[in-house]
Amino acid sequence: MRIVYVIGTRPNFVKTAPVIAALRKRMPEGRHTIVHTGQHYDRAMSEIFFEELDVPAPDHLLEVGSGSHAQQTARVMERLEPVLESESPDLVVVPGDVNSTLAAALTAAKMQMPVAHIESGLRSFDRTMPEELNRIVADEVSEYLFLHSDEAIENLRAEGIAEERMHFVGNTMIDTLVALEDRFRAADAAAALGVMPGAFALVTLHRPALVDGPLLEETVRQLAALAREMPVVFPVHPRTRKMMETVSSDHHPGLLLSEPLGYLDFLSLLADAGAVLTDSGGIQEETTYLDVPCFTLRDNTERPVTIRAGTNTLLGLDPSAIARIPEALISRPSSPPKPPPLWDGHAAERIADVLA
Ligand code: UD1
Repeated sequence: MRIVYVIGTRPNFVKTAPVIAALRKRMPEGRHTIVHTGQHYDRAMSEIFFEELDVPAPDHLLEVGSGSHAQQTARVMERLEPVLESESPDLVVVPGDVNSTLAAALTAAKMQMPVAHIESGLRSFDRTMPEELNRIVADEVSEYLFLHSDEAIENLRAEGIAEERMHFVGNTMIDTLVALEDRFRAADAAAALGVMPGAFALVTLHRPALVDGPLLEETVRQLAALAREMPVVFPVHPRTRKMMETVSSDHHPGLLLSEPLGYLDFLSLLADAGAVLTDSGGIQEETTYLDVPCFTLRDNTERPVTIRAGTNTLLGLDPSAIARIPEALISRPSSPPKPPPLWDGHAAERIADVLA
């Protein structure tokens, strides 16, 4: 059995690490080849994840870097094709919904190679999000669809996808979180920043709809206002950092900006946060597992399971809604939710069961 894993961005590494480990364990005699597209390339966005997650160094680096959607997708396709030709895999594994996912799934499918899509079936029903198109196409051309929540079943059925391609296995990102739990609990990143567990807000923002336009300036103003109520820790994604250079820098001292963090430090802060404000998909899930109140600065989510769990609140794509967070924290119900079904640390083993 020859398997090629194509990964390229920070969340890809987190979702795929346990799958690579489980399949290597299940098929030790197989050939397991890791291709890094290079969509993310800064050490803090890439290398540190390979180290912390114990992912073997990539066998192939495509070094596609940044660019427009068409450029990034085209570069992955062009550079992946010869790799797939020479590796001649029995299966190509792609995670998530980024441009690298779309490009890899399409390249492999055109070469008549079976594709396995991790985190299949999520839909925001908002085609202005680049990820939505990536998800739809990746699912359409994949043979093995690995679902992390039951709502994905309905989404895929509605697109006419046959049941036998769907495998509801659970959430591999939560596998990684569970595997790292002892280490991130010991990291105590809050103490290093001088903030008290339970008494600070953690912020991540990177979606173009929020950070590439005029909403960013108002968002930073609202974060400075929130920082008067509680310290706000904000590790800044490179896309956001670039855009923030154009925004007026009248910050409150309680607004603690930093470079992107490694995964152990980030999970340590996430677990200890009193509140999380984000536009990320994965963080909506991690806060659900950790039972930390999450406020999502978007109009929609492809992860309604996190809203039903009671941990996630959609604020809308409206920075002024940030002002509602302190009040919402006071009225939060106290009974801890149960994590969604199969978010239990064993999703990758189920993927290995299906493929073996
Ligand atoms: C990408 C994904 C998004 C995912 C996110 C996770 C797409 C369309 N978007 O968004 O779905 O949620 O990753 O982080 O695939 N940059 C650096 N260093 C890096 C990487 C990026 O400086 O290592 C900067 C560059 O200026 C680049 C910009 O960030 O132009 C955006 O990077 P890109 O990979 O295009 O999209 P993300 O916003 O990271």
